[in-house]
Amino acid sequence: MQISPSILSADFANLEAELHAVRNADWAHVDVMDNHFVPNLTLGLPVVEALLRVSPIPLDCHLMIEDPDRWAPQYAEAGVQSVTFHVEAAVDPRALAMTLRAAGARSGIALKPGTPWEPYEELLPEVDMVLVMTVEPGFGGQSFMVEQLPKVRAVRESVRRHGGEIWVQVDGGVSMSTIEQCAEAGADVFVAGSAVYGAADAATAIDELRDLAVPHRH
Ligand code: DX5
Ligand code: ZN
Repeated sequence: MQISPSILSADFANLEAELHAVRNADWAHVDVMDNHFVPNLTLGLPVVEALLRVSPIPLDCHLMIEDPDRWAPQYAEAGVQSVTFHVEAAVDPRALAMTLRAAGARSGIALKPGTPWEPYEELLPEVDMVLVMTVEPGFGGQSFMVEQLPKVRAVRESVRRHGGEIWVQVDGGVSMSTIEQCAEAGADVFVAGSAVYGAADAATAIDELRDLAVPHRH
């Protein structure tokens, strides 16, 4: 059961200190948005390269961008250990996932709330993580969409049938009050932005989230 705090809710003027504040987490989740795939603009490769130089924990990059076929491999080549792209945006998701792995990263595919899982199940041999969005991508601090949990269950079931080290990540509205249902449904990597960076103490919030998830380990 892994926790991946989203730096989208961190202080962008102090990202090095904000990464160190969550060093007891498993990953640091970095939301790359291009103002086209989602209606928001955050940061890109030059900032991610700077984060890689100072982060005490590996980066989990969530690319909410158009044309990931072209841009995503550069994140893997830069040293990002987990690169997730949206299947809706990719022309050839299978080839892209293979390229990410060849560059040394774990490959992840993300599904927006309106995107069904079944058409993409056949990609499992090429992916290391499936990200089920539990809000509409674009912004932190939104309310958790409980109606996405059946999709988490379906992905977990596919992963169980397929076998192997494939993780199921949830992202959006994950907090002390929603993480247990996510874990129970089959998630094992939990992204949390406002629940971590909005807490009085980020490190304590990470430990609390993990403690809530662990009893539901699959
Ligand atoms: C939303 C991003 C999330 C966001 C989560 O598009 O993908 O990673 O930072 O923020 P919270 O945890 O506040 O919902
Ligand atoms: Zn994200």
